[in-house]
Amino acid sequence: MKTAEIRDKYIKFFEERGHAHIPSASLRPENDPTTLFTGSGMQPLLPYLLGEKHPKGTRLVNSQKAFRAEDIEEVGDNRHTTFFEMLGNWSLGEYFKKEQLPWFFEFLTNEVGLSKDRLWVTCFAGDESLGIPKDTESAEIWKGLGIPEERICYYDAKKNWWSRSGTPDKMPAGEPGGPDSEVFYDFGTEHDSAFGAECHPNCDCGRFVEIGNSVFMEYIKKEDGSFEPLPQKNVDFGGGLERITAAANQDPDVFNVDSLNVVIEHLSKVSGKSYLDEENKESFRVIADHMRAAIFMIVDGVVPTNTDAGYFTRRLIRRAVRHMDKLGVDKETLHGVVAPVVEVYEGVYPELTNKKADIERETALEEERFRATLGKGLKQLEKAKGGKLSGKEEFTLFSTYGFPLELTLELAPELNIEVDVEGFKVEMASHQELSRAGAEQKFKGGLADGGETTTQLHTATHLMLAGLRKYLGDNVHQAGSNITTERTRFDFTHPEKVDRETLDKVEKYVNDAIAANAVMELVEMPKKEAKASGVEGSFWEKYPDTVQVYTLKSKDGTVWSRELCGGPHVKNTSEIKGTFKITKEESSSAGVRRVKALLE
Ligand code: SER
Repeated sequence: MKTAEIRDKYIKFFEERGHAHIPSASLRPENDPTTLFTGSGMQPLLPYLLGEKHPKGTRLVNSQKAFRAEDIEEVGDNRHTTFFEMLGNWSLGEYFKKEQLPWFFEFLTNEVGLSKDRLWVTCFAGDESLGIPKDTESAEIWKGLGIPEERICYYDAKKNWWSRSGTPDKMPAGEPGGPDSEVFYDFGTEHDSAFGAECHPNCDCGRFVEIGNSVFMEYIKKEDGSFEPLPQKNVDFGGGLERITAAANQDPDVFNVDSLNVVIEHLSKVSGKSYLDEENKESFRVIADHMRAAIFMIVDGVVPTNTDAGYFTRRLIRRAVRHMDKLGVDKETLHGVVAPVVEVYEGVYPELTNKKADIERETALEEERFRATLGKGLKQLEKAKGGKLSGKEEFTLFSTYGFPLELTLELAPELNIEVDVEGFKVEMASHQELSRAGAEQKFKGGLADGGETTTQLHTATHLMLAGLRKYLGDNVHQAGSNITTERTRFDFTHPEKVDRETLDKVEKYVNDAIAANAVMELVEMPKKEAKASGVEGSFWEKYPDTVQVYTLKSKDGTVWSRELCGGPHVKNTSEIKGTFKITKEESSSAGVRRVKALLE
């Protein structure tokens, strides 16, 4: 079976059960300062899980592009990837366990054709200290579906609890989460005792692969660390499209699934090497995963850079270059991987096809830059010839020169250098610790009030763009935005400084719209139609063929703003509390201005 077939079947299955099909959001969340990437289908839906009404109703289904940066080092075995598609269905305070579990079971056994004898399930063991009971209800449902008791396993919160920030102790106040029930496919391979005496669903030997997770998102963490029920009980289901396809094909290697295998085949051709050869497997897999991820990142506007999100695209491409060299493929040919990936997603993500030439160019350029950097790193390394390289020095080589540890280790014997690998790992870990702490800080800020303030600022930002366009002209378009609970930061195209007088007019425009009790209307329409009718929007290529247009209109018929967007927004501008104020105007980059504004 191919991924396209399973994706279609899944969407159709849930549409038939009353779910509205919503598009995949961008890999780069636009108005969520709490996270760099979309790593699960629920992230873009957070406001709705917390109780905001979703315009498409209470039952939703989609296939979401996801990127998990933390898995970058895991890639190389037969099942870990950084990019994947997550099939998702949601109940926003509507159906719960007794619908969700039988539906997923029916999908797997009837639609995908998996044998129920190969399915194992896990349930939450309960946690007395949190006052959250053992999930025997899910276990009973599974039993009723014919899963025998010995294939139903209970685990604690480390395995059977889901929230964006992990286990209950890691969750900040205001964060929703809940117990989950996972389904594993048993590939029947021999247990490897290196992973423990006995095999079980969460064993890492590769026999079992998780293919779906039904999260019962029904709790919210309070300031005092305890948990209380959310006003609504939600279902948040996520299942890896590639892994379900692998199960359908009874082949535990996800790299044999069509969307990754196209790269494996391409590499076999250009390297003349065989994927079946153990020696080459890791390189084939790293290139296939990393390049597919980099392609989707670039399409969503995340081009390689040294900081922030772009740093991950950089790492992906650079690691891929290293593995191309290992396979002995001609230099400067990595961009050749783009075409087969684009082809396999033809029709599903048309933006890939439209941007193929840009992606190829970015890839080639990054390879070129990397090769230049490598030369500089090598010079540094040569300075240590015949001596020792401390953990700190190796870390500098890695972080400043982009010189990977594996490359240092390859060259070390030639240069007669002793490398302190442990020291490097300590440096690396403390660096990661720092950035994690930073991320947690960010996380708290963004969620403090469950998204209400950011939603108000988001709608106000639409009004500001409309005001800027009114006073500066139609050449003004959004070039980026970042909204926290405190302020909105907004970049837009404009060649010169905007004077205070104009900023005052824009401010007044926004405040007038707030005072006018304008109503937010959401209409879905074909992208072509939206573009032709002059709807304001940037990053058109990031949006699917059917787009959402948000219009703010007051009773007298005045249209205050009409813009392409993914939401969420207030329903009426009267919900925007305070006076809108532009506090800063500065240059962002050539031809782009940046303003900061807040609600006072
Ligand atoms: N949020 C859950 C996950 O990512 C299920 O969608 O696994």
